[in-house]
Amino acid sequence: MSFLEKASILCICTLTLIACGTKPGDGEIPPGDFSARHLVAEEYVAELDSLRSTLVQGVAGQSVDAALFSEVCKPVGARAIALSEQTGWDINQVALKYRNPSHKADEQAAVIMERFIEVPELQDVWERIITGDKTGWRYFSPINVEAACLACHGDKESRPDFILEAYPEDTAYDFKVGDLRGLYTVFVPDSIDTAL
Ligand code: HEC
Repeated sequence: MSFLEKASILCICTLTLIACGTKPGDGEIPPGDFSARHLVAEEYVAELDSLRSTLVQGVAGQSVDAALFSEVCKPVGARAIALSEQTGWDINQVALKYRNPSHKADEQAAVIMERFIEVPELQDVWERIITGDKTGWRYFSPINVEAACLACHGDKESRPDFILEAYPEDTAYDFKVGDLRGLYTVFVPDSIDTAL
């Protein structure tokens, strides 16, 4: 093979690699590239958090009824479920004091949440998971209470009626601004079968 032939093959290979290259957020993750998948997990959490912050501003200062509620935390939960289905990962929000029982912190999340409470400056946590059929990494990121959250997560007695009716076992109240409300959590399996 002449030098020219070798050079053109090298050139074609390089161009193909560049063309196939993906970056996190494109929805295409290179097989086995866990660091890229971890970045995507963090992007999903940022998306859920900014969705809630935006929605909550819509109800700030207004009297809160069931219709308004559907504009705040419900879409966040729905988006987490949609992302889980889309990725095959496990994307959720969990809490020690929870309103919807499907958000009850599991054993590992409860331990991590205590760690966030003890060390408030902690930004986020990645934990290795190897249990039975689950092998991968799990991401945890704090959900903090803002003033606007108190309309529904403030004093026990001031919770809107629709919450008392819909969540008779509710314990997600008596929070103060700056408290840790819960955690976003994303389990990213090692298996590339379940990648995006
Ligand atoms: C309009 C009322 C309302 C406001 C305002 C509100 N929430 Fe919620 N929140 C709810 C309800 C109702 C649920 C249960 C949703 C469900 O069934 O998935 C909930 C659930 C949650 C959950 C999931 C855990 C659980 O307890 O089920 C988190 C985390 C949360 N809220 C955080 C916040 C934060 C942070 C704010 C402010 C930025 C906020 N909420 C503002 C009504 C509200």
